[in-house]
Amino acid sequence: MIRRLDPDDLAAILAVVIDGAEAYRGIIPPDRWHEPYMPEDALRQELAAGVEFWGQEVDGELVGVMGVQPVRDVTLIRHAYVRTAWQRKGFGGALLQHLLALTSTPVMIGTWAAAEWAVRFYERHGFRLVSPDEKERLLTTYWTVPARQRETSVVLADRRWFARTGG
Ligand SMILES: CC(C)(COP(=O)(O)OP(=O)(O)OC[C@H]1O[C@@H](n2cnc3c(N)ncnc32)[C@H](O)[C@@H]1OP(=O)(O)O)[C@@H](O)C(=O)NCCC(=O)NCCS
Repeated sequence: MIRRLDPDDLAAILAVVIDGAEAYRGIIPPDRWHEPYMPEDALRQELAAGVEFWGQEVDGELVGVMGVQPVRDVTLIRHAYVRTAWQRKGFGGALLQHLLALTSTPVMIGTWAAAEWAVRFYERHGFRLVSPDEKERLLTTYWTVPARQRETSVVLADRRWFARTGG
């Protein structure tokens, strides 16, 4: 079951993020790894900044989360995580499709360049990597991330974005 999550789900969201983010351990640059990967304060800030979380439940257990954040004229997919034990069973894909169906503006995703599986996951759902120059411009325009994170990230955009930009 997919449902909109609310502030009561904060602890469960954090647990899914921290579990799912284990995939990054030893893969993303060491200076970008945090323990815990997402502190509670950081999640609260994201909610305050307008990230709306949706979750996938199986028998009452939250197994995956994904956030959407409308920013200016686009929608960002933020913080997509499926618990390690539940990955590669279609839950992330179902969540992504659910959110895409709710969205009418172009959609973009930023992820770690080293997370090649995540790039493949989004490509399977029709996203394409933008060029390095475009990445820099988009991360500066739509996200609030430090320079080091821009350097180590990639941006993927959906068909609506490329249709708009003529790419
Ligand atoms: C990326 C993620 C959200 C996808 O959710 P999911 O439920 O695992 O994905 P689905 O089952 O819908 O789709 C699986 C496809 O995604 C890709 N994929 C996901 N995880 C993968 C992995 N560990 N290794 C290789 N491919 C992977 C593959 O294309 C896979 O298809 P396949 O199993 O036929 O090879 C989830 O794997 C996850 O939380 N990963 C760790 C954190 C992360 O990378 N988050 C993305 C941040 S933007």
